[in-house]
Amino acid sequence: MALSEKTKRYIRKNCKGTLADKRVIITGANGGIGYKTAETLVYLGASVILACRNPEKAERAKNSLLEEYPGTDIRTMTLDVADFKSIDAFAENMPDVDVFINNAGVFHRPGQKTKDGFETVMGTNYMGVYYIGEKVLPKLEKCGHDVAYINTISLVHKIARVDFDRFYDNSGSYFRSKLCVARYSEYLNNKYKGTNIHIFMTHPGITITSIAAHIFGRFYVLAKIMPFNSVEKSSLSAAWLLTHDVTDGGVVGPNKLLGGWGYPEINKKSKRAQRDIEPLINYTQKEIEKVNLTKV
Ligand SMILES: NC(=O)c1ccc[n+]([C@@H]2O[C@H](COP(=O)([O-])OP(=O)(O)OC[C@H]3O[C@@H](n4cnc5c(N)ncnc54)[C@H](OP(=O)(O)O)[C@@H]3O)[C@@H](O)[C@H]2O)c1
Repeated sequence: MALSEKTKRYIRKNCKGTLADKRVIITGANGGIGYKTAETLVYLGASVILACRNPEKAERAKNSLLEEYPGTDIRTMTLDVADFKSIDAFAENMPDVDVFINNAGVFHRPGQKTKDGFETVMGTNYMGVYYIGEKVLPKLEKCGHDVAYINTISLVHKIARVDFDRFYDNSGSYFRSKLCVARYSEYLNNKYKGTNIHIFMTHPGITITSIAAHIFGRFYVLAKIMPFNSVEKSSLSAAWLLTHDVTDGGVVGPNKLLGGWGYPEINKKSKRAQRDIEPLINYTQKEIEKVNLTKV
């Protein structure tokens, strides 16, 4: 479905300028917030690469965008964020881009594991995102122009905890994965300070996508009639961020009800995301080394 007139008006008024010279990669862009984010950026003139695990879904998303925006530059690449080998192949073939958005995510996968043996929610939302950063950022650092690197977090990171003895427990894994991504983003922001890489975080507040169906469980029917942000409204954070002067390390998300609802603005950074970063990075690097040792 095309962007509503209201959203187009919002973008014209609040996201001034054009992204016509920008090439953007968005992971998990075949549905939900990723797809709508792609659409808002195409509307602003960007060339977009939809990096998705399912090539057929990616092609459908591309065709649907092209139908709405004929003549625009929309491509697809295959990327399974829950599979290090897929990330290796993707990074190898990745073209030079100006913006990279880590959007792909899963919520509830009890008992499931990724190909590399991690619990699926932590394995996708955090280990995958971490490994993408390891592979993609050194390449982007060499490209010689500014790059906005955006990780998607969630408000729930503010109530999560990281306990290395229970790192892969099913219980609380989504919350924990988002806290880990927020801490990793802080680490990256420090690591790339003063370079061409600019690290940001966005979050969509609360909106009813298939992830939300898992979050709300049997209350999903009720959630659908609650006045949450539309998926479209929750997908404006990247468009806003890329058309405003946001300090490196900044967080952009909705502006009402503690960040749950509303239009994007700069959010206050959470203290929780800024502590205990070093132990997390050391732990993650060891976990990744273990996987690398078993790679053929
Ligand atoms: N909805 C909310 O209220 C909310 C709140 C806070 C944060 N977020 C975050 O926003 C992001 C988008 O979520 P959403 O609400 O739009 O959920 P969604 O509708 O379920 O979309 C998730 C997208 O991620 C893709 N994906 C999942 N696993 C993947 C993998 N291993 N490799 C590549 N792509 C993968 C999915 O592809 P398939 O179609 O192949 O499954 C889908 O395109 C997530 O990071 C989520 O944590 C959402």
